Amino acid sequence: MRRVFVAGGAGFIGSNFIRHLLRERPDVEVVNFDALTYAGNLDNLRDVAGDARYRFARGSVADRAAVLGAMRGCDAAINFAAESHVDRSIEDAADFIDTNVRGAHNVLAVARDLGVGRVLHVSTDEVYGPATREQPRREGDAFRPRSPYAASKAAGDLMCAAFSETYGTPVIVARPANNVGPYQHPEKAVPLFVTNALDGEPLPVYGEGLQERDRLHVEDCVRALLLLLERGEPGEAYNIQADNHQPNIDVARAILDLLDKPYGLIRFVDDRAGHDPCYWMDATKVRALGWAPSYDFARAIEATVRWYADNRWWWERIKAGEYRAYYERQYGARLAGGRRYED
Ligand code: DAU
Repeated sequence: MRRVFVAGGAGFIGSNFIRHLLRERPDVEVVNFDALTYAGNLDNLRDVAGDARYRFARGSVADRAAVLGAMRGCDAAINFAAESHVDRSIEDAADFIDTNVRGAHNVLAVARDLGVGRVLHVSTDEVYGPATREQPRREGDAFRPRSPYAASKAAGDLMCAAFSETYGTPVIVARPANNVGPYQHPEKAVPLFVTNALDGEPLPVYGEGLQERDRLHVEDCVRALLLLLERGEPGEAYNIQADNHQPNIDVARAILDLLDKPYGLIRFVDDRAGHDPCYWMDATKVRALGWAPSYDFARAIEATVRWYADNRWWWERIKAGEYRAYYERQYGARLAGGRRYED
C-alpha cells in the first residue's frame, strides 16, 4: 500500500484509524475524504494535520464525482463514511440511505473503475440483528436488521458481496461491535454518560438498562481493520468483537464509580423503539489472522472515562452546537418523565 483513500476519516473510528495507520506504516500516505457532517470533526485529527503524508479533501460519498477525484492515485480504500446513530435513524432515515447505501455503492463503483487493489468496507454487528452468547452470529449468517440504521448498513454489505461476485472487486467487509474510546460523538451512550456525569447531569438509561453491548476499545478495532485491509481475503467478511459485553446499567454504574459520582444521577427513561437486546458474534476468523483484543471491559471503560475527563476542550464544543436541539428532542420529555435510580 502506498496511498490509502479513507472515506469518513473525520469521524470516530475513521480518525482513530488514520492516526494508527500513519504511526504504524511510515511509508503510507492518506487521503481523508469526509463530508464534515455534524459527526465529522477535524479536531479529531489535530495532531496529524501537519503530517506531510496526510491530506484532507472535503466531500460526500453520495457524490460520485467527488469520490472519483479524491480516490484517483490511491491503491487501497477504506470506507468509514456512515450515518451511524440508531436514534437519529428512527427520527428519519433519509440521510442513512444516501450515505450508507448510495455512498457505499459509489465507493465500490469508483474503486472498481480505478482498479484499486484493496477495498475495506466498515460495517457493524447490527446487520445480524439480536443474538446471544449461546448462538453467536457467524459471517455467513442471515441478516435480520431491525432499525433503519441497521437496514441501511445491511444494504451496503450486500452491495459489497454483489461487487465481489459480479465485478471481482477486491472488497473485504469488517463488522465491528460497539466501539468505545477517544473522539466518539457524545450522542452515543458511553460518551453521553461520561460527559453528563462530569457535568453533574442525569444519565438517560433506556428502559431498565438491561440491554447488552460488547465494548470494543477503538484501538483494538483499528488494529483489526489495518490487519484486514492488508491481509483479509477479498470477498470475505470478518466479525470484530472483544467479548466485553455488559448491560447498559452496569456501564453507567462503572462510569459513575470511576468519576466518584452518585448512582442517583441515573434516570431510567422511555426505551428506544425496537431496541435490540444484545449482539453477539463469533470472531474466530479475524482471530485466526492473528488479532486479539488488548482491552478488557474494565480497561476499556477506564481509559475512555479518563480521556473525556482530560479533553473537555473537545466535547464541550460539540455539546454547545446543533447537539443542544438534538438533545432536547431526544431527551427533554423523556428525562422529565424519567425514573430515578433510588426509586
Ligand atoms: O454495535 C455497533 C453499533 O454500535 C454501531 O453500528 C453504531 O453505529 C453505534 O452507534 C453503536 O450502536 P448502539 O445503538 O449500540 O450505540 P448507542 O451508543 O446509541 O447505544 C448503546 C446502548 O446504550 C444501546 O443499548 C442503547 C443504550 N442507550 C443509548 C443512548 C444513546 C441508552 O441507554 N441511553 C442513551 O442515551
